[in-house]
Amino acid sequence: MSSADNLARSDRLRKRPPLAPSTSLASAAAQAGLIYGAAASNADLQDEVLRAALVRECGAITPEFEMKWDAIEPAQGERRFGATDRLLDFAWSHGMAFRGHTPWWHLSTPRWLDGAEAKDFAKAARSHLIAMAERYAGRIHSWDVVNEAVEPADGRSDGLRRSAFLAALGPGYVAEAFGTIAEIDQTALLVLNEMGLEYEGPAAQAKRRSVLRLLESLVGSGAPVGCLGLQCHLSASDRPSANAEFREFLGEVRAMALKVMITELDVDGAVVRGDRAVVDRAVADVYADVVETVAAEGDLIGVVTWGVSDAKSWLNDRENRRAPRGLPLDASGRRKASWRALARGLATRARRGADSGSGG
Ligand code: XIL
Repeated sequence: MSSADNLARSDRLRKRPPLAPSTSLASAAAQAGLIYGAAASNADLQDEVLRAALVRECGAITPEFEMKWDAIEPAQGERRFGATDRLLDFAWSHGMAFRGHTPWWHLSTPRWLDGAEAKDFAKAARSHLIAMAERYAGRIHSWDVVNEAVEPADGRSDGLRRSAFLAALGPGYVAEAFGTIAEIDQTALLVLNEMGLEYEGPAAQAKRRSVLRLLESLVGSGAPVGCLGLQCHLSASDRPSANAEFREFLGEVRAMALKVMITELDVDGAVVRGDRAVVDRAVADVYADVVETVAAEGDLIGVVTWGVSDAKSWLNDRENRRAPRGLPLDASGRRKASWRALARGLATRARRGADSGSGG
């Protein structure tokens, strides 16, 4: 593209037409061929403001905790699917996609397995994975098959986290999980979900290298991984676009023909000193930055925020801090600068696709 064309294009992007009042985050995403959704719980569905916001804005739902192993099987062999089923019914009755989050995560193993023999843990983990895949096969847009599998600080040469899954099933457990789900559910996109990949610094760079190594091993062995999930729990002081190593990382993931999804986006504004407008502007700038960066460098297929309104965010659970204001809507369900930044980020990607003829 010539420099004149570039100037014209960037001028067009700057003069973005106002968003139609009817625009929702789901419709802005759909214009770009993406999905937008939010994490939600059954308690959210009982809250009038949150429920209305989810219906208005979302094209997908991720169960916040109801589908995690400890919530599904609090006692050995006693599986409780009701809470997940209610969230699935809500999503499907409103035409929303439903995400499977997350069969194998080291922070949601049931208490009754604490201290279990490796063979007993392995048997229980496999049984849980199969039960989840069999119950929800065909109704899941994408599974976060394994969550937070790498931790270079644990000192392994392959960068894998020293978890109960690794101890019981061996380093091939990630490939095993993808293969098991794919045998049962042939319709869902299978996602490796990870946190802390967006940051600058040696620890995050080590994590990015471990994730690339794991993805290369999975893809090389024919494991059916289709997408990398970037949790994107960010701080308002973060600028992912400023991190060349993150941008290069996204390019390497794309070179493996893998898609990327932003799976748990929130931006912690508690680190910002200033009045509400200053905090909201800083949070919005990071929303715009991360969506623009991931859409530009990776094959972005969707954005999920970890909640939709500041009324309910896990960021609020931290003590003695200023309000994080990290989600698209305020506590009353009103759209903030972060909503506009996210909607524009998606719409701009739509236009970029139109400009390049790729259709977004
Ligand atoms: C969190 C939920 O938001 C909490 O409600 C729950 O108590 C613990 O898990 N990364 C993840 C999510 O993958 O599953 C976590 O969700 C947030 C961090």
